[in-house]
Amino acid sequence: MRRASNIDLQFLITLIYLLLLFSVCSAYSDLDVLLKLKSSMIGPNGSGLKDWESSSSPSAHCTFSGVSCNEDSRVITLNVSFLPLYGTILPEIGLLNKLVNLTLSNVNLTGTLPLEMANLTSLKVFNISHNVFKGNFPGQIVLGMTELETLDAYDNNFTGPLPVEIASLKYLKHLSFGGNYFNGEIPESYSKIQGLEYLGLNGNGINGKVPAFLSRLKNLRELYIGYYNTFYGGIPLEFGELSELRVLDMASCNISGKIPASLGSLKHLHSLFLQVNRLTGHIPHELSGLISLHTLDLSFNSVTGEIPESFSALRNLSLINLFKNNLNGTISTFIGDLPNLYMFQISENNFTLELPQNLGRNGKLRILDVTSNHLTGMIPRDLCKGGKLQWLILMNNFFSGPIPEELGGCKSLIKIRAMNNSLNGAIPTGIFNLPSLEMIELDNNLLSGELPEKMSGGSLTQLKIANNKITGKIPSAIINLPNLSILSLENNRFNSGIPEEIFNLKLISRINASNNNISCEIPSSISSCSSLTSVDFSGNSLYGEIPKGISNLRNLNILNFSRNKLTGPIPDEIRFMTSLTTLDLSYNDFNGTVPVGGQFLVFNQTSFAGNPNLCLQSNVTCHQQSGHNYTTSFGTTKFMITVIALVTALLLMIE
Ligand SMILES: *[C@@H]1O[C@H](CO)[C@@H](O)[C@H](O)[C@H]1NC(C)=O
Ligand SMILES: *[C@@H]1O[C@H](CO)[C@@H](O)[C@H](O)[C@H]1NC(C)=O
Ligand SMILES: *[C@@H]1O[C@H](CO)[C@@H](O)[C@H](O)[C@H]1NC(C)=O
Ligand SMILES: *[C@@H]1O[C@H](CO)[C@@H](O)[C@H](O)[C@H]1NC(C)=O
Ligand SMILES: *[C@@H]1O[C@H](CO)[C@@H](O)[C@H](O)[C@H]1NC(C)=O
Ligand SMILES: *[C@@H]1O[C@H](CO)[C@@H](O)[C@H](O)[C@H]1NC(C)=O
Ligand SMILES: *[C@@H]1O[C@H](CO)[C@@H](O)[C@H](O)[C@H]1NC(C)=O
Ligand SMILES: *[C@@H]1O[C@H](CO)[C@@H](O)[C@H](O)[C@H]1NC(C)=O
Ligand SMILES: *[C@@H]1O[C@H](CO)[C@@H](O)[C@H](O)[C@H]1NC(C)=O
Ligand SMILES: *[C@@H]1O[C@H](CO)[C@@H](O)[C@H](O)[C@H]1NC(C)=O
Ligand SMILES: *[C@@H]1O[C@H](CO)[C@@H](O)[C@H](O)[C@H]1NC(C)=O
Ligand SMILES: *[C@@H]1O[C@H](CO)[C@@H](O)[C@H](O)[C@H]1NC(C)=O
Repeated sequence: MRRASNIDLQFLITLIYLLLLFSVCSAYSDLDVLLKLKSSMIGPNGSGLKDWESSSSPSAHCTFSGVSCNEDSRVITLNVSFLPLYGTILPEIGLLNKLVNLTLSNVNLTGTLPLEMANLTSLKVFNISHNVFKGNFPGQIVLGMTELETLDAYDNNFTGPLPVEIASLKYLKHLSFGGNYFNGEIPESYSKIQGLEYLGLNGNGINGKVPAFLSRLKNLRELYIGYYNTFYGGIPLEFGELSELRVLDMASCNISGKIPASLGSLKHLHSLFLQVNRLTGHIPHELSGLISLHTLDLSFNSVTGEIPESFSALRNLSLINLFKNNLNGTISTFIGDLPNLYMFQISENNFTLELPQNLGRNGKLRILDVTSNHLTGMIPRDLCKGGKLQWLILMNNFFSGPIPEELGGCKSLIKIRAMNNSLNGAIPTGIFNLPSLEMIELDNNLLSGELPEKMSGGSLTQLKIANNKITGKIPSAIINLPNLSILSLENNRFNSGIPEEIFNLKLISRINASNNNISCEIPSSISSCSSLTSVDFSGNSLYGEIPKGISNLRNLNILNFSRNKLTGPIPDEIRFMTSLTTLDLSYNDFNGTVPVGGQFLVFNQTSFAGNPNLCLQSNVTCHQQSGHNYTTSFGTTKFMITVIALVTALLLMIE
């Protein structure tokens, strides 16, 4: 009661104020009003509205940019969009009372909406989207806007409850309050806006039960109520009565329970977004009634069971996202038959058996992600039949057999990620020449054969084929991959040498070729490869000395040459490699003494173990035959090194 009388009082004061204002200002022409508005719409950092200038001609304003007039030179359209103005709206806007279309969008206006807007009673379009208006949305301003068809306040800083006054707008078709900070529940009176076709309340702080009463909006075509809103309970069964609905977006708004079978009667629905919620239960087979469905996103829920076989009727399905659920069963061939399917993402479920071999034959497939399931069998041959496949993500499954040769000709490919499977055979050579391919990840398979002598993949940044059975030499053609940053070849059967060209790659950062059969000297070109952060050639048969100039590698964090046959001294210059935090030179045949000081304070004896001719302390005379006694002599040094390293670490932390 008290609240209502307050509002009445406020309204009365506003009315009096308006009357006063209008009696004082009635001499204002629309030209004057626009100039007045300009003075505050252009804020401190704004620019724009340059052609809005005073003139003696009474209709000069009708040619201002964004303005149009009726025959009496009254402004009927005001459209100021995509200008950074940073200002506010003055109360004088209420004087433009013939306005039909008001669009002030993407202009960075702030402040509150002036109550004088209540005088804009001819408005049909009221669009203040993409600004930073704040405070409550003053619902009373719309009471007189009986013609209003569109109210778009998307993406502002409005707070407080959703205005109930909206419910009186008989002709309203489009209402967007999305992307604000509205809170509280959706007013039940909104179900009275019978002409409403578009309702956007997404991206606010709205809560309460998902309102079943919205199902009374029989003309609704698009309903957006997800994102940041937190509802309790499930999807109302009554939503199945929204027979005109095209888009239902209830993503990421905390809904739980089962997907109601009643939704299956939405014959016009083309997009159903229910991702990132707490939905459980099976996907109802009745959803096969969604004959117009194009986009289905149920990802990030706890849905169980199988993809209903009845979905074979959904011939328009183009995007299917089911990742991160608890689905199981097989992927039926009808999925491959869907004529428009371009995105199929089912990662992190328990799907079993093979992918349909006809997948991709529709010529439309672009994104395939089946990560972390229990899929077996061969990779279908025709995934790239239409030349559109961009992401092929098959990792963490049980695929076997070869990588189809056809993929070597798939110029659209951007990512191939198929690690942790049982793929065998050689990698199709064409793959290394694909112009858009950025990532090849085939680690942990049973691949064999050799890498090709020709490579030209100009986009490739990551080549990861570790833990396979690949043989032959590391081809010097790698130099033709100018964007290569990560090269991961460890645990294969590469033999012969390291091509020195590798170190001419300008962007190479990590090379791991450990645990192969490489036998050569370390190319001296390594010293000029300043982009390197990590080098691991451990577990090979490298011989010769560590090249001079190794300390030029100013970004190197990890250097591992352990378990090779390297000889000669440990270069003293390593002392200056302040970025180096891990050094492993163990189990080689280095001789001389380990330098002390500088960066060597960071390393302990493990880094140098297993070098029988290496002496670990420079100030003790160390004979080649006394190797068995060095641990004792290193003991004290180790203590000191630990202390010094700790002090250094502390100093670094203080900095
Ligand atoms: C406006 O300009 C001032 C000084 O030039 C600057 O400090 C301020 O961040 C700017 N504001 C915006 C919104 O650009
Ligand atoms: C408003 O003007 C912008 C360009 O300034 C234009 O892109 C937009 O279509 C106009 N809107 C209307 C409703 O006329
Ligand atoms: C509005 O201002 C913000 C920051 O003040 C800026 O990032 C944004 O680009 C501006 N928008 C327009 C349309 O100028
Ligand atoms: C405010 O609106 C009323 C009703 O349309 C109109 O008669 C009046 O002239 C308007 N005030 C001004 C200053 O235009
Ligand atoms: C208002 O804008 C709509 C489209 O948004 C347009 O169809 C109509 O003609 C405009 N009316 C006026 C008076 O500018
Ligand atoms: C809009 O609201 C957000 C969140 O309350 C705040 O961080 C931001 O500074 C506000 N912007 C303006 C221009 O008031
Ligand atoms: C897959 O099935 C196993 C065993 O039934 C179960 O423990 C696991 O949670 C399931 N994983 C998913 C993602 O459903
Ligand atoms: C799918 O998982 C359910 C348990 O969630 C189990 O009862 C059913 O047998 C499984 N179906 C298949 C085909 O594995
Ligand atoms: C290290 O070994 C090489 C031969 O392998 C020898 O020429 C050299 O003098 C040795 N250096 C030291 C310091 O023992
Ligand atoms: C040497 O340092 C590494 C970490 O840098 C540590 O894992 C290892 O246990 C240390 N070994 C000894 C013998 O202190
Ligand atoms: C040799 O090392 C010991 C500690 O291990 C130290 O006390 C001594 O000063 C060092 N001698 C020289 C000449 O550096
Ligand atoms: C090992 O070194 C200790 C002292 O550091 C010495 O007493 C001992 O005789 C040495 N042992 C051998 C086998 O050289």
